[in-house]
Amino acid sequence: MSNYHIKTFEEYFHIYRKSVREPENFWEEVAEEHFVWRKRWDNVLRWDFSKPEIAWFEGAQLNITENCLDRHLRTRGDKTAILFEPNNPNEPAQHITYTELYERVCKMANVLKAKGIKKGDRVCIYLPMIPELSVALLACARIGAIHSVVFAGFSSTALSTRINDSSCKMVITSDGSYRGNKSIDLKGIVDEALEQCPTVESVLVVNRVGSSIHMEQGRDEWIQPLLDAAQPHCEPEVMEAEDPLFILYTSGSTGKPKGMVHTTAGYMVFIAYTFKNIFQYREPDIFWCTADIGWITGHSYIVYGPLLNGATSVLFEGVPSYPDFGRFWEIVEKHSITHFYTAPTAIRALAKEDLNYVEKYNLSSLKVLGSVGEPINEEAWHWYNDHVGKKKSPIVDTWWQTETGGILISPIPYVTPTKPTYATLPLPGIQPALMDENGQEIKGNQVDGRLCVKFPWPSMARTIWGDHERYRTTYFTAFEGKYFTGDGALRDEVGYYRITGRVDDVIIVSGHNLGTAPIEDAINEHPAVAESAIVGFPHDVKGNALYGFVMLKDVGEVRDRDNLRKEINQQISDRIGPIAKLDKIQFVEGLPKTRSGKIMRRILRKIAGNETENLGDTSTLLDPEVVQQIIKDRL
Ligand code: WT7
Repeated sequence: MSNYHIKTFEEYFHIYRKSVREPENFWEEVAEEHFVWRKRWDNVLRWDFSKPEIAWFEGAQLNITENCLDRHLRTRGDKTAILFEPNNPNEPAQHITYTELYERVCKMANVLKAKGIKKGDRVCIYLPMIPELSVALLACARIGAIHSVVFAGFSSTALSTRINDSSCKMVITSDGSYRGNKSIDLKGIVDEALEQCPTVESVLVVNRVGSSIHMEQGRDEWIQPLLDAAQPHCEPEVMEAEDPLFILYTSGSTGKPKGMVHTTAGYMVFIAYTFKNIFQYREPDIFWCTADIGWITGHSYIVYGPLLNGATSVLFEGVPSYPDFGRFWEIVEKHSITHFYTAPTAIRALAKEDLNYVEKYNLSSLKVLGSVGEPINEEAWHWYNDHVGKKKSPIVDTWWQTETGGILISPIPYVTPTKPTYATLPLPGIQPALMDENGQEIKGNQVDGRLCVKFPWPSMARTIWGDHERYRTTYFTAFEGKYFTGDGALRDEVGYYRITGRVDDVIIVSGHNLGTAPIEDAINEHPAVAESAIVGFPHDVKGNALYGFVMLKDVGEVRDRDNLRKEINQQISDRIGPIAKLDKIQFVEGLPKTRSGKIMRRILRKIAGNETENLGDTSTLLDPEVVQQIIKDRL
């Protein structure tokens, strides 16, 4: 029996048990199927969570793009690899075949090489959702450069921080981007960011919107003429299994963003495996993940996962509300999409609109629906199931993280019976554990605790770029010998997992992972602000929205509070991006602190969520009066 494609529930249990009993043999068998290796591994796994040190398939040599592209040319050369659906529904869709994609990747790889980019160099990619974005990732991988994609909704400050953290040599961007009826001046944002980025030597610019932009002499160049002149073949760089493939930044609960480093062989094996099984992909299915490639979801399940499996992957430039709220469903009908993978926040936003937007389209091509990014609430689950899936398409609620590289807990459609709001069971090779506050593992069912993973899996991040110690302390010290996810979870009577949400100071807003500290830092930079604290509160579309408690330096000074609120949000938008703006800003005279000076966010969370009856233990509060005042003035 092949480990690679699970087809029944019995098979799942059989394979799962084997994967726990003999993890090395299990992953070795998966790696032997369906991949092209330049050299076989000497050793499947070497690991030590105390250091932490994790290495998969050491000794192996490969290039992931050979597995995404070259290998398919003979059998699938004319098959659509990327189906590009532009923002404007009147602009024709583009079907980019495997052969064309191969040539475009090779050309771009040759352009990067000619610009002096070599194996190990970091290249920042700041592009909208257009084919060049996928091409740029693969071009970097082709020559062994490490790509660092920054979501094109981030501000210039957020961009420069990320470029500098990994000292990128090059930025690939576009003149602008389209989002609904707006166009955004991306190049202007890059120019501003680069005032602070000494390591960037060159900028390649894709012409997307045809706007007139500033081109810095000696630094910036339009990419198209270079591509037109480049050779359509490029020998893949032979990579070691543990050579970094990419860096992707994620918010931490404190300090600057963490550049999670993913390596080559393990990432490839795990992403290919999870794509195949979690979506039960079969040719000629058409797979659409609506995430942005700027997030891990897009890296793993728009670019690498589908291409590793020779699939057709849809790339959508626009937004769900343009030209109207039927856009997603119009695209499903137009391209006969079989697999649709989106976030609960999008489902909730669309569920609020007229049902006719969904009902007017023929969605009968759909076979599997996916959800990712945050817990999916019962109401959204049922709306998705009833109106999009017509109760025929199983919903896979996939739990994972930037750090995990791929999906760790999820139903397998047509295999695992689903249960609303439950991510259900671990994938083969994944050994979850629930831990109590004293660091003990909680065994048995009908329990809840902090979610850890006990054993390495191939696509886990290996380090934080430039800060291995932070990697160790963030993930491997809370519970000795285990990877701590930062999430809480419960296990029901049959062993199904339900993720209950973050237990640290990360807040998930519309599926975006936001750390409290960077937002507070942005607010505190405002000259009128003394101190601030951010918490999340339930929001019916975004899942969580942000509530800021802001202490001013001189309350008497401020006349126009609404204007100050606007200024604070502008400040956040400039420093981080519009996604981090606060929904509510309450001006307070003091913040609830412990005697040691730590802000008690737990109390602020209760106040923001209007659960002031039971504030829990307040005995360590320095000044209980402060809390009473905040409750009185609650917005
Ligand atoms: C955090 C990771 C994984 C890609 C997108 C987010 C939350 C993610 C689920 C889910 C409940 C989920 C967790 C996790 N999360 N998927 N299906 N059910 N919570 O990646 O930005 O690294 O965020 O998102 O809290 O820790 P990320």
